[in-house]
Amino acid sequence: MMDLEHHFNAMDTVDCWEDIKQKLDDELKPDELERVIFLIDPTIKSYWERNGDIRSARDLINALENCMLFEDILSTLEHIFGYTNQHTYEGQSLRKMISDYSHNRRRLGCSNIIGRETEITQAIDALTNTKNKGIWIYGMGGLGKTLLANEISEKLFSRNTTILKFDLKQVTNFDDFIKRMLAKFEVYTTSGDTMALTSTLMFQLKRITCDTCIVLDNIEDMYECEGGEVNKFVERCFDSPAYMPIKWMITSKIKFDKDMHGLVQLELQPLSKSSAEHLLNLSIRPIELEHEKRQCILVMTGRNPLAIRLISSAVKSYKSNDDLSFLNTNLQNGMKECIEYAYRSLTEADRVHLNSLSVVETSQFDLEIVKAVLEKNDQEALLIMMKLINHQVVQRICYRQYCFHPLILEYVRTRLVS
Ligand SMILES: Nc1ncnc2c1ncn2[C@@H]1O[C@H](COP(=O)(O)OP(=O)(O)OP(=O)(O)O)[C@@H](O)[C@H]1O
Ligand SMILES: [Mg+2]
Repeated sequence: MMDLEHHFNAMDTVDCWEDIKQKLDDELKPDELERVIFLIDPTIKSYWERNGDIRSARDLINALENCMLFEDILSTLEHIFGYTNQHTYEGQSLRKMISDYSHNRRRLGCSNIIGRETEITQAIDALTNTKNKGIWIYGMGGLGKTLLANEISEKLFSRNTTILKFDLKQVTNFDDFIKRMLAKFEVYTTSGDTMALTSTLMFQLKRITCDTCIVLDNIEDMYECEGGEVNKFVERCFDSPAYMPIKWMITSKIKFDKDMHGLVQLELQPLSKSSAEHLLNLSIRPIELEHEKRQCILVMTGRNPLAIRLISSAVKSYKSNDDLSFLNTNLQNGMKECIEYAYRSLTEADRVHLNSLSVVETSQFDLEIVKAVLEKNDQEALLIMMKLINHQVVQRICYRQYCFHPLILEYVRTRLVS
């Protein structure tokens, strides 16, 4: 099968987006449009009030384009149209259309990553250098390691590299990790000691003949618990010439503690001043803050992108400028404070939902779990998730799949205990 991006170029994404607007325009009746507007977070209402009525789906999307990052618009629309397949255009569901568009767009590397051009180039150079077998990206939570790894993966994918991605958040056991990798090769084992499991995996890896990048995302939990095993594993994969077509990309909160030939370590730093400001300006729209307040937010967030996005969504949901008085307190290293503001900016009902969801056992969960935990139907659950995502307190993995950022999960759980 030919890959999608061969049929698709950057110009097409613009056309496709216009096409989607047109289809929504044709499809949504006035009462439905009103309902959609009602469902979308009231944070952007103030903007609409100033900029005239929304009379069509196109007006609505144009308004959203002035208030949200592009990925957030797609996610919002997908959630709104997610619960019903009644919205179709020539037999195709609008939800599916939006989701396909979102996918194709990312395949082309049109993501919302801000700054990080240097890091992307460095990483690609390191990975394409035949002397190297992999990179280990490390840095504190929320700096964007996962987003960066995804971005690099997309770039490699468009150079005909196969990507095998494993999210290891909360995986603490080495055998579980190997089993998870084996499952990707459709090898399912329930028993076996570490040695046997590893050998089975090595056998599978040796069979890989095309350029492949294996992404081990968020390895820190396992690295902390099974550091010795991870070291041995990395050594084995990096030392042998048998795994030639394989490159590794690993993200972690902690540094790899050995000097390993062929492994390039890349420490992710906070965003540059200008990128941080750019991200803040984009995420805080339609609100315009004075220079001083913006600087104050940037200090609070330590230029950590997750903190910037959290605080922006919190600021957007305050009603009057008076509520922004907290911005005058000069908080340093404010990740926790940023989470707290974001949490406080949720409605009481959404806070209750978030609290309930935080007790799910895994940091990744799907909509079925949301429905079961909150005792909601499909539609209600989707709308709750849409709101939590727009407040940045829940992250979206793909359609109906979500995860918590560990810092946020920790914050909510601590609150519940105290
Ligand atoms: N450069 C960036 N531009 C825009 N958004 C960003 C950027 N970096 C990170 N983000 C956003 O910040 C949030 C956190 O990013 P991400 O999950 O990649 O962080 P992380 O470093 O992997 O965190 P953790 O260590 O907890 O896994 C995400 O919502 C992501 O989209
Ligand atoms: Mg991550």
